[in-house]
Amino acid sequence: MRFEHHLFVCENRRDPADPRGSCAARGGEAVRAALKAEMKRRGLEATTRVNAAGCLDACADGPTVVVYPEGVWYGGVKPEDAAEIVESHLVRGHPVERLRIKRFR
Ligand code: FES
Repeated sequence: MRFEHHLFVCENRRDPADPRGSCAARGGEAVRAALKAEMKRRGLEATTRVNAAGCLDACADGPTVVVYPEGVWYGGVKPEDAAEIVESHLVRGHPVERLRIKRFR
């Protein structure tokens, strides 16, 4: 396997008038930047990949992050959550329960 973990961060942007909103408008780009910075700080870049994604079809829960291979979905993620996701989930193997999207569990 190329990477131990692969994170997809929704950065989809919709017209501000669209009632669905979008993860970009809720800060998805800053979330991806924070996750990437945390990976770099910990030297995990060789084993973990963080990619921008289009709409992951969980718009109401955004900003949305999905972690594979586990298929764990996080919603309402903020940049300040990045360190906890990396430490708890990626390093210690314990998903951050408080951030999981309940309907996808
Ligand atoms: S806009 Fe992010 S999940 Fe749809």
